[in-house]
Amino acid sequence: MKTSFPRAEIKVLLLEGVAESAVEAFRAAGYERIETHGGALAGEDLVAAARDAHVIGIRSRTQLDAEVLGAAKKLVAVGCFCIGTNQVDTVAARRRGVPVFNAPYSNTRSVAELVIAEAILLLRRVPEKHMACHRGGWAKTALGSREARGKTIGVVGYGHIGTQVGVLAEMLGMRVLYYDIEPKLELGNVEAAAGLRGLLRESDVVTLHVPATPETEGLIGREELSAMGDGAVLINASRGNVVDLDALSAELKSGRLGGAAIDVFPTEPKANDAPFESPLIGLDNVLLTPHVGGSTEEAQVGIGREVAGKLLRYSDDGSTLSAVGFPEVNLPRQTSGARLLHVHENRPGMLMAINEVIGASEANIDAQYLRTLDDVGYVVTDVSIEREAGLELGGALRRLPGTLRSRVLF
Ligand code: NAI
Repeated sequence: MKTSFPRAEIKVLLLEGVAESAVEAFRAAGYERIETHGGALAGEDLVAAARDAHVIGIRSRTQLDAEVLGAAKKLVAVGCFCIGTNQVDTVAARRRGVPVFNAPYSNTRSVAELVIAEAILLLRRVPEKHMACHRGGWAKTALGSREARGKTIGVVGYGHIGTQVGVLAEMLGMRVLYYDIEPKLELGNVEAAAGLRGLLRESDVVTLHVPATPETEGLIGREELSAMGDGAVLINASRGNVVDLDALSAELKSGRLGGAAIDVFPTEPKANDAPFESPLIGLDNVLLTPHVGGSTEEAQVGIGREVAGKLLRYSDDGSTLSAVGFPEVNLPRQTSGARLLHVHENRPGMLMAINEVIGASEANIDAQYLRTLDDVGYVVTDVSIEREAGLELGGALRRLPGTLRSRVLF
């Protein structure tokens, strides 16, 4: 399949040292105009680089606001080579007919591995022994040091990460309990807990894998912590506001809980040289990590492939599956002469107007797909038509009032 615009001329702007796996994916697909920058761009520099870009790939530091998006007149799609999309004004992008893609799950395994490692270290009481050695001490004892085998791990939030943690924990011979607000497919021998309280009471290790929602804010407070068994340990690599850290600090200082591993915090430093503050600092039985649960080289490679793959699919066949804040259309392979992609203002009569334009061209419609989201609609029409007539039809659709973006693929 060919785009109406030669791939070799499509400018792909990749900022912030986006993984090489992404560059390779674009090259392999025939894209030659790839401009890479090791760092983020801002202000005039960003606008200048974005002005003639068809695809922009960023990580978390580049701010693509309405102004930058407005200046990028040729922009077709944005890729966030990371998990979040807060750095992009996705509403402004949608209103310009530009889908935004990200990689929400490429680091799932990385988080799960860290959690399992922490569970083992906490059950063995390694953090305090490690600290004692660093101070020139020697805390050799088997007291309170336990194997993971045969212990119960309670997974709160049995989603992408929670299920992976469950699978890995079973491989260590652990019993896996989970608690989720949605019905879930249970993998392996995992068992649903009798509510959150039941899970907290029964688990030697409690690990949190819920999203940030109003319901999960403060999900684990004083009462929940006191429901945990004596010597149990808590791991949080989900979101910082899920656990009341002052209450946790009190339970850890008293020695009632065995330890904790915390990767995410209610307030996190914006940069590596900014100071970090937490009520858990200085507690020997706590593992503190700077939100690195998903930060591995493998995850970066995976993110590069995943986001580049989504951008290529949209560029080459129009699919917007898993786009953020954009109508999602999952398309089969194109077999017709031409595929017409039309992003427009979501208002009554648009589909009729599009079909009238197509009808007037005498092209036969083989298939049509429509999705709308809030103020934007996306219609994809496969038609049997010759290339020249297809280009003409594409031009007519582009001139239709209410059109935000329109492309033709052959
Ligand atoms: P997911 O969306 O696949 O799974 C979340 C699960 O939590 C779902 O099954 C959902 O039904 C459940 N849930 C929602 N509200 C709940 C509640 N009130 N009580 C119990 N269960 C509830 O998400 P995924 O990918 O597994 O990520 C989990 C968390 O991990 C997210 O908060 C994400 O931001 C965080 N994360 C942290 C990373 C790190 O570097 N530490 C890296 C990647 C993700």
